[in-house]
Amino acid sequence: MSHHVPSLSIAGPRPVLFESLNPDGSSAAAGAATARPAIARDGAMIVLDDVWKTFPARGKDAAVEALKGVSLAIPRGEIYGVIGRSGAGKSTLIRAINGLERPSRGDVLIDGVAVNRLDEAALRAERRKIGMIFQHFNLLSSRTAFANIALPLELLGLTRREIDRRVTPLLELVGLSDKRDRYPVELSGGQKQRVGIARALATEPKVLLSDEATSALDPETTRSILALLAQVNAELGVTIVLITHEMTVIKEICHRVGVIDAGSIIEEGPVDEVFAHPRTATARAFIGSLPGRELPPAIAARLGAPAESASQTVLRLTLTGGAATRPVVTQLARALDIDVTLLGGQIDSIGNQPFAQLFVGVPAASWASGAIASALASPDIALEVIGHVA
Ligand SMILES: Nc1ncnc2c1ncn2[C@@H]1O[C@H](COP(=O)(O)OP(=O)(O)OP(=O)(O)O)[C@@H](O)[C@H]1O
Ligand SMILES: [Mg+2]
Repeated sequence: MSHHVPSLSIAGPRPVLFESLNPDGSSAAAGAATARPAIARDGAMIVLDDVWKTFPARGKDAAVEALKGVSLAIPRGEIYGVIGRSGAGKSTLIRAINGLERPSRGDVLIDGVAVNRLDEAALRAERRKIGMIFQHFNLLSSRTAFANIALPLELLGLTRREIDRRVTPLLELVGLSDKRDRYPVELSGGQKQRVGIARALATEPKVLLSDEATSALDPETTRSILALLAQVNAELGVTIVLITHEMTVIKEICHRVGVIDAGSIIEEGPVDEVFAHPRTATARAFIGSLPGRELPPAIAARLGAPAESASQTVLRLTLTGGAATRPVVTQLARALDIDVTLLGGQIDSIGNQPFAQLFVGVPAASWASGAIASALASPDIALEVIGHVA
């Protein structure tokens, strides 16, 4: 398929103006008592450095600290997912990135420019480098698909011919050439989001921000929209930040993930690493919410026997990399001459990497002796005791 896509002029790496910022270096300020983790800024498209956002008290409402010292470096050209529960601060974070919300302190750098330090006019210009898509699409009902996509270009003062030259390939990119003259009421949710994506790309941004852009869509449409975002990332090199409360979205297309909880990033890293070795209960809960990630209830109900008198120990094996495609379970059974019961699990892929999570029952004595742990010792196998069965 030969796509004619608009050429995006993506600037090469620029030095991050980091050292010259934060001149006051006010370590005595509230909450700065703990040393912040160093963040790798080389090659980052977006850097958040110790970003705080406090919404002041109003009337009877107490002040809200929506962001509490968020430091992140989002690599150029990657798809970065931020996952968190309702009220965790996700939308505030994304609004800080596009300059709609000024941090109470800290800096937000987009391609080396501290957007929080720009005046309104400079910020408006900078925002053209940032496209945004929304849960409810935010299309103008009085405008056709074409005219919705054209809107940001009209605001830039482009001629009709220039606009047509940009919008037509965008309609093709998002698969809506035949819906060019349709109004939003005549489009499905997925089609509306495709218009939203095309509109966000109209100004040829370097960064695309998505705030729950698939959460109003059914699972199949969600997958097609995520595939389109992956295509936009791969073909145009646009850095994408994707906010979501669904782990399936992260699993489907993100390269890296940050877990946000009560205004702080509590865990972050490459998606396969976070999936294989979640360090926080919140991350484990999100991963556990994926289909096949929970122990079947009938087996869960039988857990809780004391380890000493148990006959079986139930383990969760998380297999990544090569381990996910090795016959780990049969090899274990043969090596130790034990029976291994498969109790549940899921084998799939994360970012094209095979990934498996299996619940297995093993003889409690073999587990207690350490034989199983040493037989399975491998950097691509994680072991977790879920419980014991009498
Ligand atoms: N303009 C505002 N004024 C006061 N408080 C706000 C404002 N915007 C957000 N908050 C508060 O900041 C916290 C974080 O809100 P935010 O919208 O970032 O959460 P979220 O993670 O996007 O949640 P959701 O998943 O429900 O969209 C919440 O406690 C919210 O009530
Ligand atoms: Mg939100």
